[in-house]
Amino acid sequence: MIVLGLESSCDETAAALVADGREVLADVVASQHDVHRPYGGVVPELASRAHVVNVVPVLREALARAGFGLERVDGVAVTSGPGLVGALLIGVQTGKAIAWARGLPLVGVHHLAGHLAAVYLEPDPPPMPHLALLVSGGHTSLVRVEDHGSVVELGRTRDDAAGEAFDKGAKLLGLGYPGGAMIDRLAATGDPDAVPFPRAMTAASAGDDFSFSGLKTALLHHVRAHGVPDGQALADLCASYQAAIVEVLVRKTRRVARRERLSHVQLCGGVAANRGLRAAMRAAGAADDFAVYVPSPARCTDNAAMIAAAGYHALVRGERAGLDLGAVATVPLPTRSAG
Ligand code: KG4
Ligand code: ZN
Repeated sequence: MIVLGLESSCDETAAALVADGREVLADVVASQHDVHRPYGGVVPELASRAHVVNVVPVLREALARAGFGLERVDGVAVTSGPGLVGALLIGVQTGKAIAWARGLPLVGVHHLAGHLAAVYLEPDPPPMPHLALLVSGGHTSLVRVEDHGSVVELGRTRDDAAGEAFDKGAKLLGLGYPGGAMIDRLAATGDPDAVPFPRAMTAASAGDDFSFSGLKTALLHHVRAHGVPDGQALADLCASYQAAIVEVLVRKTRRVARRERLSHVQLCGGVAANRGLRAAMRAAGAADDFAVYVPSPARCTDNAAMIAAAGYHALVRGERAGLDLGAVATVPLPTRSAG
């Protein structure tokens, strides 16, 4: 079954064609980073306009790369939330138009269900059940994945998401937007022990939730006291800041994996592209004897192949959206209650 995936929840316009939720036939992403960079963050109105301009060329490019037309497509999967409503609507309307015109089944995909499905596009995906650390620009959660479409959330951030901590930190350091990848790059040559940053909520008694807003404040205080450094000192500051985020994510994941007796752990969402996090989680897995699965960096950040993969499983389960499918800004990942 060939599924067309469409993604437009934030600042990437993406279309992909995926066979059976596993084999990527085409995967095209048009990033709007250049549009939003001058403003230091995503401007919703500009995002919507850029999606309008990009969506048809991106779709055409995906079909051209796959080497066939819409007549070979068996279903349409589109991100319907959460995200920026005006941005989401462009993908949703496009998906509905194609489904209606070609008489194809349509399904609305939760953006985070898409992130969780990205690892199934890799040659060696994790078995069920497994633990997932979902770290993106808007979300930070630890979830037990029982099956496709069946997850239990065990912990989540109480304030900023991990990606927000990266982006806000980068903004404070004048590194531009989006800042996660910039901090990653600078951290590679820095000393992670140069500046002591807090590791919030890491005591066992703190439970499975995360908090990153204090870290951002600590960086603000550091910058107020010492200014923004350059050269090696900037690399050291980035490495120290990144290490604080990574250590909290890894410590909590280890503890939950042990407690839940889950020996397979996947990382997903844009922050899973971070080299420090990938290496630290792999080291933790080797020490604690759990297997670590991470999508390729390009499939950690937003893309439509992951939406097509999640959509495939939803279609197989018999889920269908009507032409009244809408876009929703905030919607929890459909979960089973824990316990
Ligand atoms: O999943 P994603 O593309 O969009 C959302 O669903 O939010 O995640 C974007 C987030 C941004 O905060 C970005 O700075 C962060 O992922 N990110 C990174 C890296 N690449 C992207 N953070 C740290 N290191 C990276 N290499
Ligand atoms: Zn995302």
